[in-house]
Amino acid sequence: MRINELRKKYLEFFRQRGHAIIPSASLLPENDPTVLFTTAGMHPLVPFLLGEPHPKGKRLTNCQKCIRTTDIDDVGDTTHLTFFEMLGNWSLGDYWKKEAITWSFEFLTSKEWLGFNPEKLSVTVFAGDDDAPRDTESAEIWKSLGVPEERIYYLPKKDNWWGPAGTTGPCGPCTEMFIEVDEIPKCGPDCKPGCNCGHYVEVWNDVFMEYNKREDGTYEPLKQRNVDTGMGVERTAAMLQRVPTVYDTENFKPLIDKIKELSPKEEFTEKDEVLCRIIADHTKAAVMIMADDRRISPSNVEQGYVVRRLLRKAILSAEKLGIESGFLPTLADIVIEMYKDVYDETERNRDFVMQNLIDEERKFRKTLSKAMKRLQRIIDSTGTVTGKDAFFLFTSFGLPLEITREIAEERGLKINMDEFRREFEHHREISRTATQGKFKGGLADHSEEITKLHTATHLLQAALRHVLGESVRQMGSNITRERLRFDFTFPRKLTPEEIKQVEDLVNDVIKRDLKVKREVMPYEEAIASGALAFFRDTYGDEVSVYSVGDFSREVCGGPHVDRTGVLGHFRITKQKKIGAGLIRIKAVLEPEEK
Ligand code: ALA
Repeated sequence: MRINELRKKYLEFFRQRGHAIIPSASLLPENDPTVLFTTAGMHPLVPFLLGEPHPKGKRLTNCQKCIRTTDIDDVGDTTHLTFFEMLGNWSLGDYWKKEAITWSFEFLTSKEWLGFNPEKLSVTVFAGDDDAPRDTESAEIWKSLGVPEERIYYLPKKDNWWGPAGTTGPCGPCTEMFIEVDEIPKCGPDCKPGCNCGHYVEVWNDVFMEYNKREDGTYEPLKQRNVDTGMGVERTAAMLQRVPTVYDTENFKPLIDKIKELSPKEEFTEKDEVLCRIIADHTKAAVMIMADDRRISPSNVEQGYVVRRLLRKAILSAEKLGIESGFLPTLADIVIEMYKDVYDETERNRDFVMQNLIDEERKFRKTLSKAMKRLQRIIDSTGTVTGKDAFFLFTSFGLPLEITREIAEERGLKINMDEFRREFEHHREISRTATQGKFKGGLADHSEEITKLHTATHLLQAALRHVLGESVRQMGSNITRERLRFDFTFPRKLTPEEIKQVEDLVNDVIKRDLKVKREVMPYEEAIASGALAFFRDTYGDEVSVYSVGDFSREVCGGPHVDRTGVLGHFRITKQKKIGAGLIRIKAVLEPEEK
């Protein structure tokens, strides 16, 4: 089934069931300063979920343009996208679980609609916790439709709770639908929806929004019970077309084909394929943001900064494939062709987009070529690239460390990462760090999940230093509601034993339910008292020091949990060597019991 047909069928199915079809809202939220982009179909509907009457009634459906930047580093795998479309249907205080689930089941499995084999359908429902009860009602509805008990999974808030879109607002438990992919075997006996091995692909999420999350993190019942659903267009299309990735669907394939045609390469390694995907994803996302009627240009602030980062990464990736200047407008033409009949602003803003792409590429290529020349001069005259040099190229020309390192390594040279870090620490760059924060998630997100992972990051760092020694230094950290990511200096990957030791140490501190203490003191005093501090420049003169017993002591802005006991079970999910002397770990917190 083609994507156009999928969109049409979805909207028609819900139109027949009394829903008004509404247009996609802008990618740039109009009345919400807390987020940069529209991340889901419900986002523009927040006032109506809170009780405002919607002019089109209580049943709505649409296809919404969305941008998510939280997992931007994962782009290139088989499912993560920066720009994507989401089909949704909403009940604003009208129908509830029975109708929503029954319709989801019918649309997915009926031969008249999508026709997925019902035996390949698995679902998850909310397991319940102190904030909201176990969702047995949804499970019973699934059973009544013929989904057997063993294909219904109860999962905690981390997996089966959606929202709010910002820090506060409408949210609630959800039930997610997964289709099993025969071609990808289960990853083991515990393989289940949500484990991300690729065997189960999530296609649809029905959220039962009956709560409002308050500033203080507690939940209160909403005035009305709403349904908010979201079906990922690209993923569902890939499943319907039985192709291995979203990049094989017609909304990506023409871009990938063109990128390969523009590259002089004959053979594309797996690494090259990832570069092709990054170029396609990032160019498309940048074009779609710029083609919105708010007309955002690449810049150094807010959404414009995201556009700039996306385009620069696309240009750098193109450079690696030997693609010459001027490829961006060629790809933009394909993107506009793809979407102009669905989102007519895309065509309306064509000239604006093209001009910006040409200007940005010209500017960045010029800077890049200057930086390369400078780097060459440095190597020729000194025979090495110091950490200081790398830092200079980074701040003065915007040459990413990754590129400098690659070029240095091609010539058998190593960059002193400690020195680079020291330079970084000495350099006042508050604004840059602040903008980076925006790039990550758009929000000063103080949600419970983020707060817990923040504390877990401190425990991880302390444990790594216990197990691997004091040379471990934080180089970067990024937290989403699902996981923490921690980059640190160490020459090699950890052995399975070391991973286990680190996990055990952290879990031991969690079990001991230690108090997390906060003290305020001048920065110098904090350092003198043995607190770890990285990226000095982001702090003011008086700093907060968070300590966990004798185990960890760090200068940090917070927030953190009060006691370690609430963290649950700490597990390392991934580690990767991301460069010379640099290791990246991803880890999650899981509830103690399932
Ligand atoms: N808002 C829900 C989601 O994005 C439907 O998954």
